[in-house]
Amino acid sequence: MAAEREASDVIWRNARLATMVENGKNPYGILDGYDLIVRGEKIQAVVPRGAVDDKGLTAIDVAGRLITPGLIDCHTHLVFGGNRANEWEQRLNGVSYAELSQQGGGINATVRATRLESEQQLLAISEQRLKALISEGVTTLEIKSGYGLDLASEEKQLRVAQRLGERYPVDISPTLLSAHTTPPEYRDNPDTYIDLICQTIMPQLWEKGLFESVDVFCESVGFSLAQSERLFNAAARLQIPVRGHVEQMSNIGGSELVARHGGLSVDHIEYLDEAGIAALSQQSTVAVLLPGAFYFLKEKRVPPVDLLRRYRVPMAVASDFNPGTSPFASLRLAMNMACVQFGLTVEEAWAGVTRHAAQALNRQNTHGQLAAGFYADFIVWEAEQPVDIVYELGRNLVSQRVFRGEVSHDSATLTGGQP
Ligand code: NIG
Ligand code: FE
Repeated sequence: MAAEREASDVIWRNARLATMVENGKNPYGILDGYDLIVRGEKIQAVVPRGAVDDKGLTAIDVAGRLITPGLIDCHTHLVFGGNRANEWEQRLNGVSYAELSQQGGGINATVRATRLESEQQLLAISEQRLKALISEGVTTLEIKSGYGLDLASEEKQLRVAQRLGERYPVDISPTLLSAHTTPPEYRDNPDTYIDLICQTIMPQLWEKGLFESVDVFCESVGFSLAQSERLFNAAARLQIPVRGHVEQMSNIGGSELVARHGGLSVDHIEYLDEAGIAALSQQSTVAVLLPGAFYFLKEKRVPPVDLLRRYRVPMAVASDFNPGTSPFASLRLAMNMACVQFGLTVEEAWAGVTRHAAQALNRQNTHGQLAAGFYADFIVWEAEQPVDIVYELGRNLVSQRVFRGEVSHDSATLTGGQP
């Protein structure tokens, strides 16, 4: 029986579809000999070839190329002023992080630079970084605040994230990370700064619709468990989902705290232990692995990937793009690093930038899979199999990038929407 059709439907045919639909027996949810039917912004159906009569419809033949869902980068700090290249050079020359901090380096160096930029300037520099991610196949990304650390500067960062989403064919999930570090004006009063976030920054920016979730750097060098809990309780009162930078340098129980609050994700987690993993496994919290920061900081301790597998905690992979610990505007590089450094299988790395990354952003019913009802955000690759994308870095393998059903980048014609 022929599937139902509409005159405006677009049929993508002759593809190898890596649907990323979970199916224990079929790696990557591969479908050969299927057509992808797009109606408006969504995937209408994935049907065996020929099941839809394409007479009069737009049909696009991709000549056997691979199609996957668009890549989802679920953890970035993409909007910031300045860079910390000089700091890195000093570190390579033997200056310790503590010394650099005393000289005003670290996160607060980026806070100073970000506060100085106008919204327009911040937009212009952030655009260049976003274009790099978009052109390698990213269709959804998370962007955190956390380099403003006062009401006006946090708002400025989040407005830039919002404007990026309006100007470019990409879906942006903004996160409030005002609890990234204590700003200089509160240096001796981190609790008072947490009060400012709970009573002023979070409610006012939430009211303006500028973010979707609240994050915290819960760490011996960040905020304590008690401070993080106060933040999460304030978020709960406004029904805001939470997530956390946790267990990056030590284990102070941040993951259990996030799990207790039904959080969306725990990120970094090199020092996560079995009790924390057991707590996560009771929730749908995603474990987000950030191998770029691990590499750049020359860390030695890898996240407990085997235990995460055993407890069936979904793992995502993200770039953590930021000026201090992961200055890499490439999610494909993060996928490669997750495989080489953390021992993920290539299939796990792919789930980590599609289905599981969608879950970390609370978009699991609409993003990250090629299936009926999901957004038509997908990439036609100059490749035949998913491993090719993770294996060969340094060459752009995007043949066509489709966002919400529209071709936004076409390597053959170099036409289409920006960029
Ligand atoms: O995700 N861990 C804390 N935050 C960032 C680093 C921020 C910075 O150094 O500017 C991270 O690694
Ligand atoms: Fe981060």
